[in-house]
Amino acid sequence: MLLELDFRKRNLTLVGTCLVGFIAIICAWNTPLALALVVASLVYLITGNRPTTVYCVSVTLRRDITAAVRFIRLNYKLIKWERARKIVPQLFREVVERDPNKAAFIMDDKKLTFQDVENFSNKIASYFKSKGFKRGDTVALLMETRPEYPAIWLGLSKIGVVTALVNSNLRKDPLTHSIKVADSKAVLVGAELGEALKEIRGQNRIKDLPVFQFYDENQNDGSKFPLLEGATDLTLDLSKHETRDVTEDILAGKPKEKMVYIYTSGTTGLPKAAVITHLRYMFMCMGASEMLAMREDDVIYNPLPIYHTAGGMLGVGNVLLRGTTMALRKKFSASNFWADCIKYNCSVAQYIGELCRYLLAVPHKPVDTQHKVRLMFGNGLRPQIWHQFVSRFNIEEIGELYGATEGNSNLANFDNQIGAIGFVPLAAGKLYPVTLIKCDEETGEPIRGEDGKCIACKPGEPGVFIGKINPRISSSAFSGYADKKASEKKVIQNVFKDGDMYFNSGDILVRDILGYFYFKDRTGDTFRWRGENVSTSEVEAVITNILSLKDSVVYGVEIPYVEGKAGMAAVVDADKTLDIDSFSIGVRGSLPPYSRPLFVRVLPELPMTGTFKLKKRDLQSEGFNIYKIKDPIYFLDKGMYRPFTPKDYDDVMNGRAGL
Ligand SMILES: *[C@@H]1O[C@H](CO)[C@@H](O)[C@H](O)[C@H]1NC(C)=O
Ligand SMILES: *[C@@H]1O[C@H](CO)[C@@H](O)[C@H](O)[C@H]1NC(C)=O
Ligand SMILES: *[C@@H]1O[C@H](CO)[C@@H](O)[C@H](O)[C@H]1NC(C)=O
Repeated sequence: MLLELDFRKRNLTLVGTCLVGFIAIICAWNTPLALALVVASLVYLITGNRPTTVYCVSVTLRRDITAAVRFIRLNYKLIKWERARKIVPQLFREVVERDPNKAAFIMDDKKLTFQDVENFSNKIASYFKSKGFKRGDTVALLMETRPEYPAIWLGLSKIGVVTALVNSNLRKDPLTHSIKVADSKAVLVGAELGEALKEIRGQNRIKDLPVFQFYDENQNDGSKFPLLEGATDLTLDLSKHETRDVTEDILAGKPKEKMVYIYTSGTTGLPKAAVITHLRYMFMCMGASEMLAMREDDVIYNPLPIYHTAGGMLGVGNVLLRGTTMALRKKFSASNFWADCIKYNCSVAQYIGELCRYLLAVPHKPVDTQHKVRLMFGNGLRPQIWHQFVSRFNIEEIGELYGATEGNSNLANFDNQIGAIGFVPLAAGKLYPVTLIKCDEETGEPIRGEDGKCIACKPGEPGVFIGKINPRISSSAFSGYADKKASEKKVIQNVFKDGDMYFNSGDILVRDILGYFYFKDRTGDTFRWRGENVSTSEVEAVITNILSLKDSVVYGVEIPYVEGKAGMAAVVDADKTLDIDSFSIGVRGSLPPYSRPLFVRVLPELPMTGTFKLKKRDLQSEGFNIYKIKDPIYFLDKGMYRPFTPKDYDDVMNGRAGL
């Protein structure tokens, strides 16, 4: 279900959808057939589609009505806020007034109430204003997860200062780059990361930046981590600072103003800073929580990094905009996950990427089902483990969300449809500015027809997912990156009409006839071998199952004198239990010859990004160079894997291996 509709332009159609929704509610659930007929005939009238559509619409009726009702509620709220020109700190004040003593953030033994967060963020705002920071300035925030983290950027946003939420795992060059690319005027560093900052302090353009060092007064980590040379002791300064009222600065803020930068790792190159405005933050967060029907009295467990979209927007946003309580954790731990959910009485938990698989890999324990988690939401629950996951941990509802931090088109699957990343109601097909277009699966370049325009995919045909950009409508605007050149690459022009613009997600999806979307691959992750297209995510899924849920990454490697790329799998074998012969048999039994990896590299662990994504590019660039790699490498020879030797390597490199 798409969250962002081109609503002003399509007012009439929206009214139509509302009408259908209301008729549906009034007719009640008991008369689905009558309802199906009403909707089906409406669909027929609006879209002029064929009888199959009529059938599909009746099958998905309940889903689509729920979606329509939630969607209307969402847009009602957002339009109301947008009209009133509200920004995030204002909405947060309203939340504080409702229940100032409710817990906002809990972590370990520390609890901040809504009033605490309000007071602390006011203090930050007032302090930085007194230090001469102005609307439009950027401050880089380098800090591990702690309850004050969101309060710091919220405070800065009160005086219009933009916070760059720097990934706290970065060191050296990527860290320097992140601070520079956002054009930061100062760095606010958590004492625990002082060393990381110290390493790069000599660098050009970092040298002269003022540093504010923060530590937790009560936990006294100030003495454990000495103050960096020349840095300001922020904790001490704040304790002496007399907070001045910043209400006027808040009222001067505008919804389309930048609020924070969130870095996206992307697949190539250094981190890019995506611009998040107040409005965008509201759209993203409310979109997820309204479509998933989250409640204000929910307690959310958020073990994800809060400098990223999932943890910091979709998660933390519920606290700031809706008054939900949230339990944070410094670092995700699979073995403590359910115990934490019980300890904090959580009813909702967040996941991302490979996290669900790590939970499944923990031995069975009573806590698996003793918790009260009703809903888990996030992105990247793999279809292969979906069912096992919900049944083992007794999760009633999965909210799988799809959307890029910087993109303009989002999907949600709140229908428990296994494996789907979202859906667009069929009746709404033409209202939503998202679609799949045919592309070269290897490069992701759109394929254009004779008329020079792109070709829309039919159900069942894989294509790259794109969303229309309408710069006048905030919900579909692409706010881009801090770096202009990076923004241009993500936009395709003249797609269906001259002059139109679409955001290119770079993801290859497939849609079924019921309107569900399924993830196939990221463009650039498919490679060609023996004339066939090999989807690395498909091969990864199979290998992970053969290895009973151990980590694996698959990528293509170039071989001299051979066309295409050969498959290579990196698999994790931390406990040294890999049996290469049974692995060979598993691979032979479940993969066609062209997609069996030619090389297997066995590692004790895989390099990982902060969001539990595996670092494919690093492995890919190391390839199978046996003189450089210390890990054992195996080579597929007559259907079985055997150790890859220096002689094999020389043969492969000289084109004598008979490939
Ligand atoms: C928050 O600040 C207000 C006014 O600045 C003060 O009256 C109140 O006691 C503070 N509350 C807390 C919990 O610190
Ligand atoms: C836990 O949450 C439930 C509702 O989700 C509530 O009824 C109960 O009182 C809570 N228990 C505690 C100890 O907070
Ligand atoms: C592989 O992909 C290319 C372009 O995406 C396509 O032209 C070709 O037909 C595909 N090959 C197979 C065997 O599917």
